[in-house]
Amino acid sequence: MNTPRIAIVGGTGAVGRTLLHLLEERSFPLSGLRLMASERSAGTTVTALGLTTVVEDLATADFTGTDIAFFSAGTSLSARWAAKAAASGALVIDNTNAFRMDPDSPLVVPQVNGALLAERPVSGIVANPNCSTIPLVRLLRPMHEEYGLRQVTVATYQAASGGGQSGIEELRDGTRNVLAGLPAAAERFPEPLPFNVVPAIDRFQDDGFTLEEQKMRQESRRILGLPRLDLVATCVRVPVENGHSEAVVVDCERPVDVVALTKLFAAQPEAEVWTDRVPTPRTVTARPDHVHVGRVRVDPERPTRALFWLVADNLRIGAALNALQIAELVVAGGPTSAV
Ligand SMILES: NC(=O)c1ccc[n+]([C@@H]2O[C@H](COP(=O)([O-])OP(=O)(O)OC[C@H]3O[C@@H](n4cnc5c(N)ncnc54)[C@H](OP(=O)(O)O)[C@@H]3O)[C@@H](O)[C@H]2O)c1
Repeated sequence: MNTPRIAIVGGTGAVGRTLLHLLEERSFPLSGLRLMASERSAGTTVTALGLTTVVEDLATADFTGTDIAFFSAGTSLSARWAAKAAASGALVIDNTNAFRMDPDSPLVVPQVNGALLAERPVSGIVANPNCSTIPLVRLLRPMHEEYGLRQVTVATYQAASGGGQSGIEELRDGTRNVLAGLPAAAERFPEPLPFNVVPAIDRFQDDGFTLEEQKMRQESRRILGLPRLDLVATCVRVPVENGHSEAVVVDCERPVDVVALTKLFAAQPEAEVWTDRVPTPRTVTARPDHVHVGRVRVDPERPTRALFWLVADNLRIGAALNALQIAELVVAGGPTSAV
C-alpha cells in the first residue's frame, strides 16, 4: 500500500484532470494508473505523470487490482459503480453527493476529521464533501472550539467550474456571444451566466432551499459533529471561471476578539489571512492549495458576531485536493489499515 494502484473514474473531467495535476505536483507514490470515463472518451489517451494512459469505458471496467479508486463522474454513476469497486478491494474516495450522508461512509475533510480514516469504512467508501462546505468547515471548527458556534449564515459566490468542464465552456462561449451582441446559452446553468449572477445551484427542494444549500447545512453538521448546528446558506453562481467565495456571518456563544480570531485563522493548516488586500478568485491563484480569508470583522454592536470572507479553489480544495489528501493520509501510515 505504500505505492497504490490508482483508478480515476471521470479522469477526463474538470475534477479528474485537476487530480492528475495534483498527483504529479505532490509526487504521490503510485504504482499504476487507470482512467475511466464514458464511451465518448473511451479509447482516447491522456498524457500525465510521465505516462500515456488509454481511457477505459466505465461500463465495461473491472476494478480488480485497484487499491484506490477516485470517483468524479457524477452522483448516479457513483451510486451505481462505487460499491462494485469497493467490493473488488479498492478504497473508494468519492467526490459526488452519493454517499455523503451514508452512515457507513465517513465524510472527511482531513484537516478537520481525518482521524475517521483510522479504519477501513464499512462500505469501503470515503465521501468527499461539497466544494463550498470544505473550506467553510476548516474555519468553523477552530471557531467552535474557541467561541462556540450559535448560528452560521453563509452566502456563496460559486464559479462556473463548479458545473464541470461544460460549465466553464458555457461561461466562456456565452461571454464571447454577449460581447458580440448574441444571446448566451443557459444549458448547464438555469439562467445565462455571463454578466449575471444566478441564485440557483442544483435543484430546488420543497422548502424553497436548493439541494446545494441543503448539502452545506447537512454536511457541515456531520463533519463538525454538531447535528443541530443552525446553519443557513444562499448559494449563488457568479461569472467567475474558477474559485468559490463565501461571505460568512457567525454568531457565537462567547464574545470574539478580532485580533485573536485573525490569529486563529492564520494558525490553521494551509490557511492564509489577507489584511492589506482582499482575497478574490483572481488574486489567490498563486497559492491555490490554501483557503484564503479576508475582511475578518466583529460586529461593533454585537461582540459575539464575527464576519469574514473566504476564497478557495473549488476544483482543488473543494474536490481533487481534499480527495488526494484523504489518500495521502491513508498511504502515510496511521490510517493505512483503511485499505
Ligand atoms: N467541479 C467542481 O468544483 C466539483 C467539486 C466537488 C465535486 N464535484 C463533483 O464531481 C463530479 C464531476 O465533476 P466535474 O466538475 O469533473 O464534471 P465534468 O467536467 O463534467 O466531468 C465529468 C466526468 O465524468 C465522466 N462521465 C460522464 N458521464 C459518464 C458516464 N456515463 N460513464 C462514465 N463516465 C462519465 C466524463 O467523461 P467523458 O469525457 O466521457 O464525458 C468526465 O470524465 C460531479 O459529481 C460533481 O458534482 C465537482
